[in-house]
Amino acid sequence: MPALLGPRKTIEETLETTEQEGFQLKRALGAFDVLVLGIGVIVGSGIFVLTGQAAAKEAGPAISLSFVLAAVVCGLAALCYAEFAAMVPAAGSAYTFAYVTLGQLVAFIIGWDLVLEFTIGASAVAVGFAGYLDALLDQVFGVTLPEAITAPPGDGGSVNVFAMAVVGVAGVLLIRGVRQTARSTAVLVGLTILVLLVVIAAGATEVDTDNWKPFSPFGWDGIVGGASLVFFAYIGFDIVATTAEEAKRPQRDVPIGIIGSLAIVTVLYVVVSLVLTGMEPYRELGSDAPVADAFKGHGLDWIAAFVYAGACIAILKTVMILMLGQSRVAFAMARDRLLPPGLASTHERFGTPHRITLITMVVVALLAGFLPLSELAKLVNIGTLFAFAVVSIGVLYLRWAEPERERPFRTPMLPLVSVLSVVGCVYLAADLEAETWIRFVVWMAIGLVVYVLYSRSHSRAGHRAP
Ligand code: ALA
Repeated sequence: MPALLGPRKTIEETLETTEQEGFQLKRALGAFDVLVLGIGVIVGSGIFVLTGQAAAKEAGPAISLSFVLAAVVCGLAALCYAEFAAMVPAAGSAYTFAYVTLGQLVAFIIGWDLVLEFTIGASAVAVGFAGYLDALLDQVFGVTLPEAITAPPGDGGSVNVFAMAVVGVAGVLLIRGVRQTARSTAVLVGLTILVLLVVIAAGATEVDTDNWKPFSPFGWDGIVGGASLVFFAYIGFDIVATTAEEAKRPQRDVPIGIIGSLAIVTVLYVVVSLVLTGMEPYRELGSDAPVADAFKGHGLDWIAAFVYAGACIAILKTVMILMLGQSRVAFAMARDRLLPPGLASTHERFGTPHRITLITMVVVALLAGFLPLSELAKLVNIGTLFAFAVVSIGVLYLRWAEPERERPFRTPMLPLVSVLSVVGCVYLAADLEAETWIRFVVWMAIGLVVYVLYSRSHSRAGHRAP
């Protein structure tokens, strides 16, 4: 079996790789920066778009319970991520963790999976941004742009210019440096939280409790269906783990960032979803901008305008950090020579992996500009659930295989947490459509071909292996 799974890297070896000349990332992030990055990537189009849609189609007012259910699944996985990230503070997140536990083949599969999650995710979120910017211009400034430049070919236009532009802006910020990214993210995150607090404060006075009756019109099935959709709204805390190599004290800062950001957004999401479903009958929440529309419906135009603009800002930074995650995973894979190593060199002055960031920017921009991504976006959830499950198994395996290893953060209540995490991921993934599963399998099959034809024979670990 070891031969089939490929060589395993040791944790020491992994940390050595991070010290190589020309492939180093700067350790520039403190605990606060990491926490902010976490909240920054998590709060995006999920809460602003999906909450209403999932309430209308799946769960009704019980969408708040869907958020709780999704948060439990993410929380279990987050506890496993935190142990790994503190123990292996190297770029690449689940990819790197898999390399030291389950071997090269599984690591490659996870890396390939994360590339899918982050690239498609960033593109989908960029398209969401474009939709909000359109709505802002239209609703607030009365400027209606022609569809030719605001929609992709499949949706009645030629190119989605705003979606491409936002990817360009995000790419330039990322190349200039992650510290700067963290700073601009802090400002953007502050604004985003302010928008959510305004929604809660202003919306609470508009709640009509009759809208909560019946609270769970579609029962448990509805709650689970809602959770497998709004799961998207939590995606991103795992990206905190991809920045472990850039954290000053990863052993402490990264667990704080991962678990803290998840806890904060869970509270915000549950309260916002309660307010939203209290403001309007759930059936009327299925629009593209349900949070802003709810205020418009109550005649609170200026708050609606604030929410349109706030959503744009929130979504902009989510695009940016999803691209950050993507570039760091591809960076780690290239540094290990599972992808061409030239991709992993870092910029002399900025200390960022500029080549891979540039390629990420071009690919995400093309996808966002020319494709209607509604279908592809579902792939993001399945890919993430898959990665969570592997990390949860990996942490358990390593406790068994290397019980003496120093663990600055220990996942509590193993094996229970690990087993429940895998069960939760499978449970939510099972609720996704068969088509989504097929696409996922096809993408992974392409990855295996790349692995067999290139990565296996080029990998650094493979060359030093006996
Ligand atoms: N969690 C991110 C969002 O909701 C992907 O946009």
